[in-house]
Amino acid sequence: MQQKIIILDFGSQTTQLIGRRVRELDTFCEILPYNKMPKDDPTVIGVILSGSPFSVYDKEAFKADMNEIRGKYPILGICYGAQYMSYLYGGKVEPANTREYGRANLQTFEKENPLFKGFKDYSQVWMSHGDTITALPEGFRCIASTEKVKYAAYQAENEKLWGVQFHPEVFHSIQGTQLLKNFVVDICGGRQDWSPANFVETTVAELKAQLGSDRVILGLSGGVDSSVAAVLLNKAIGKNLTCIFVDHGMLRKNEFKNVLHDYECLGLNVIGVDASEKFFSELEGVTEPEKKRKIIGKGFIDVFDAEAQKITDAKWLAQGTIYPDRIESLNITGRVIKSHHNVGGLPEKMNLKLCEPLKWLFKDEVRRVGRQLGMPEHLITRHPFPGPGLAVRILGDITREKVRILQDADDIFIQGLRDWKIKDADGNVVKDQYGNEQTLYHQVWQAGVILLPVKSVGVMGDERTYERAVALRAVTSTDAMTADWAHLPYEFMAQVSNDIINKVRGVNRVCYDISSKPPSTIEWE
Ligand code: XMP
Repeated sequence: MQQKIIILDFGSQTTQLIGRRVRELDTFCEILPYNKMPKDDPTVIGVILSGSPFSVYDKEAFKADMNEIRGKYPILGICYGAQYMSYLYGGKVEPANTREYGRANLQTFEKENPLFKGFKDYSQVWMSHGDTITALPEGFRCIASTEKVKYAAYQAENEKLWGVQFHPEVFHSIQGTQLLKNFVVDICGGRQDWSPANFVETTVAELKAQLGSDRVILGLSGGVDSSVAAVLLNKAIGKNLTCIFVDHGMLRKNEFKNVLHDYECLGLNVIGVDASEKFFSELEGVTEPEKKRKIIGKGFIDVFDAEAQKITDAKWLAQGTIYPDRIESLNITGRVIKSHHNVGGLPEKMNLKLCEPLKWLFKDEVRRVGRQLGMPEHLITRHPFPGPGLAVRILGDITREKVRILQDADDIFIQGLRDWKIKDADGNVVKDQYGNEQTLYHQVWQAGVILLPVKSVGVMGDERTYERAVALRAVTSTDAMTADWAHLPYEFMAQVSNDIINKVRGVNRVCYDISSKPPSTIEWE
């Protein structure tokens, strides 16, 4: 039976991070809204209460029903989770004199407490809260303090119930992973058997049982998620899987051909549909970004549907939906927001049953599963790419000539990132844990070129030119929700700029986008 940790979400920005940390301990976990604790689920081995943007005194503050939890499972409250339990059971929580934010050291802590096993003196932790606990409930014992925070951590006497006011899940809490491991493995008894190999084995068996000899259709995008889903399904049902890869004409240079070739090498049964003509004609003269998106979204569904109709006995539509696409994250108004599916609209239209084999995985786990399945590294480490493709990177109307210019510039930029090796202080190329040489491409979450709707004057040889400007965009991020512009080396940017201006006909100026998200977005449209 698959064990799991439940993480109850009170709306903190770091809730997903807690989930990823638990998974990194090879333990399965589910993130659920604070009021959706499952009843009597024998697979639950422990509960973590997340932080929250609220103060426990706020009228709208989220309140969990602790009767379902206390005494039944080991509990770890983090930040608001700790304050909430303290407040609920008779302690005091008050606004801190100064907001506690940033690094702090645990100056004293109960060395023999199982939560702190393996901790070093003066362990660094990360604080981020406006309120602080000023008195503990009866029967609760303080087990750690920092210089400013007296009740940095507590435990209920003779109970497996802990609260920490710091954030063990964030990178800066040096002993945070150790603390979570102590809780998940030692205290809750996690077996640490959630591994890519295990996932592949059990998922393939489940897919075989679920799908039998049914035919399945899957839309490939060239991205990591749909590719891994396809390879996993191929392993389970082989030729009963038909993949469809649509070229809307806004893909990267040679991408349709290259990706199709990759898929064929992986043994997938793929139909490549070149529908670029349809999309170019429907997009002619359209300048409004959302209209472009709608035309491409609808066109994609129509082309996919027409192709799928040919497979008359298909019963299932498979999608590479991953866990972050489905987590019901809470915003502070209490409304549940669901993030978008990449291939929105397909399931409603097609009257097929939905199969989502990656629906429990985080992005990094999808990549680990891909490696487990023996997929090539360049497919696994591919940057995300928007569904509407280059259409949202050409500001203004779209023509074949503009797509050609952008494809050429983009190709130089991306290839440049792939070729630029990262070296350590001794000049050796840095490798990742799998032995792959690291390049700028790996350090960047996503990169691309934007074709601007302006022309400017330049001089090439003795000629005056009046040509287009492009902007390079490269960002670092962990989930695309927030992003920072990548601090690429000047020498690299100089080389790319030279290459683009010398080789791409129609471009005489290159800029670099130095905006972060928020307030900007990753794409320009
Ligand atoms: P923004 O521009 O909102 O992008 O910061 C966040 C992430 O989403 C991708 N993106 C899209 N993906 N269809 C998609 O499938 C779209 O319409 C779309 N718009 C943006 C973007 O590339 C980035 O990874």
